[in-house]
Amino acid sequence: MYKIAVLPGDGTGPEVVREGLKVLDAVSEANGFKLEYTHYDLGGERYLRTGEILPDSVVEELRTFDAIYLGAIGHPDVKPGILEKGLLLRLRFELDQYINLRPVKLYPGVETPIKGKGPKEIDFVVVRENTEGQYAGAGGFLRKGTADEIAVQESISTRKGVERCVRYAFQYAQKRNKDKKVTLCGKTNVLTYVFDLWERAFHEVGQKEFPEITRDYAHVDATVMWMVKNPEWFDVIVTENMFGDIITDLGAMIQGGMGIAAGGNINPEGVSMFEPIGGSAPKYTGLSVVNPLAAIGAAAMLLENIQETDAAAQVENSVMKICQFHLKSLAAGKMGYNTQEVGDLVVKNL
Ligand code: IPM
Ligand code: MN
Repeated sequence: MYKIAVLPGDGTGPEVVREGLKVLDAVSEANGFKLEYTHYDLGGERYLRTGEILPDSVVEELRTFDAIYLGAIGHPDVKPGILEKGLLLRLRFELDQYINLRPVKLYPGVETPIKGKGPKEIDFVVVRENTEGQYAGAGGFLRKGTADEIAVQESISTRKGVERCVRYAFQYAQKRNKDKKVTLCGKTNVLTYVFDLWERAFHEVGQKEFPEITRDYAHVDATVMWMVKNPEWFDVIVTENMFGDIITDLGAMIQGGMGIAAGGNINPEGVSMFEPIGGSAPKYTGLSVVNPLAAIGAAAMLLENIQETDAAAQVENSVMKICQFHLKSLAAGKMGYNTQEVGDLVVKNL
């Protein structure tokens, strides 16, 4: 029995989470374990109704779960930044989910915009640092609103934060057992403080603790170029928070789009949170047209995280089958099925 906190969130979040839970129910029953869900109505609607974003008591409760399953955060009537910082980022920070793990894997039968590349070439994982960088929120205004105003947004990298992140990336490359290679994505030619620290930590940890893992480096601008030109060069990419945010949207596109891209906010020593990375897609809310496979993929990552690895593999295999043999496209409204039907197909193909 595992205790799972469910945060369906905003927009199409609840629709895709419903399909994820359907799949989790089926696969847990087949594998003889139980998931006990506790739903939380956090998100834009609750904020607009009550002014509450994330009560401290809820943060404390969330610490007691085995995992958290999140739909999407973001509401068109709420000013950008409020829910993102007050809910999503606060959860990542307070639960110290210092890794954002984002697999970029093209499944057979899925169309990629990268000409001449297929599932063999597009199969890597981005390990994004998830609690520091510009996201830490250091900075502020001086003389705001005047002709002399100044805005500062600083990027924070701590030795501890960077070390634990690169260590996770090396461990992941070892476990993944593909090319046994980790590429540090940085900008050592301009951000000469932050990436000096990253580079030293990367090589020191790699050399001392993971001598069998190949270490590689690419500037972030070159990284996005290679992701398009030669995605097969990558096995595990490790990078700071903001770069990781940006390159994983490109990653999502080359693996078939937001309909399939899943991620995990991971605290290897604590409670982790799994989500489709695409956002709340408010314009599609209630239409049953969005693709739940990203949310279902996030559910598979959740299963992996709670060590139900057989169940996780069964869900991923079913998703792969659906992609190869059933869906016409992964794009919203173009799948040939509605949201619920895709969830049903995954259950049927488990
Ligand atoms: C993501 C999102 C978030 C981020 C936003 C919603 C704060 O874009 O999970 O990638 O920037 O991390
Ligand atoms: Mn993002």
